[in-house]
Amino acid sequence: MSSIFDVIKKRRSIRRFQRKTVEDEKIRQILNAAIWAPSAGNLQPWVFIAVREQKSIEKIKVMSPGIFDIPAAIIVVCRDMKIAEKAGNPELSIFDIAMASQNMLLMAYELGLGSCPVKSFNQKAIQVLLDLPEHIAPELLVTLGYPAEEPSPRERRDEVIFFEKYG
Ligand SMILES: Cc1cc2nc3c(=O)[nH]c(=O)nc-3n(C[C@H](O)[C@H](O)[C@H](O)COP(=O)(O)O)c2cc1C
Repeated sequence: MSSIFDVIKKRRSIRRFQRKTVEDEKIRQILNAAIWAPSAGNLQPWVFIAVREQKSIEKIKVMSPGIFDIPAAIIVVCRDMKIAEKAGNPELSIFDIAMASQNMLLMAYELGLGSCPVKSFNQKAIQVLLDLPEHIAPELLVTLGYPAEEPSPRERRDEVIFFEKYG
């Protein structure tokens, strides 16, 4: 069992994947991690579509300049705008989507999988491909698969941390 900081620090965005299926139980566990994320007012304004079929994955890749390989699975993280609009400030819901997504990236790493958050995709095309109703907006893709690369960590800025006051 890794420490939470190990998982946070060692997770990398993985963009090359082995041609190996990801077990359904692992996908389920990643989705369970997602639904345990915090959300403003506990509205949970999210919907997750796990895409595992190769044909659909290839279609999504064509619609997504931000995907560089064929992952074994893709989680399409969607925002339910009907639920989001129940909040005083519907814009808050994008934070909820981000929090659920980070949980998935960390859970995937813990399970020995690589993942990458992908924002560069054609939202409308994904909407049509997955039969998403108008109010279910695809916000982020999380690619998943057994890693075929071990990227070095990208640099982090640590001059951003202050105590008590700026500067
Ligand atoms: C909101 C968001 C959108 C991103 N979109 C893409 C993308 O479209 N394609 C991609 O390859 N990586 C994407 N990334 C991954 C970042 O490039 C990556 O997190 C960053 O370079 C730091 O590397 P690390 O994740 O390995 O720590 C995205 C990350 C975030 C948070």
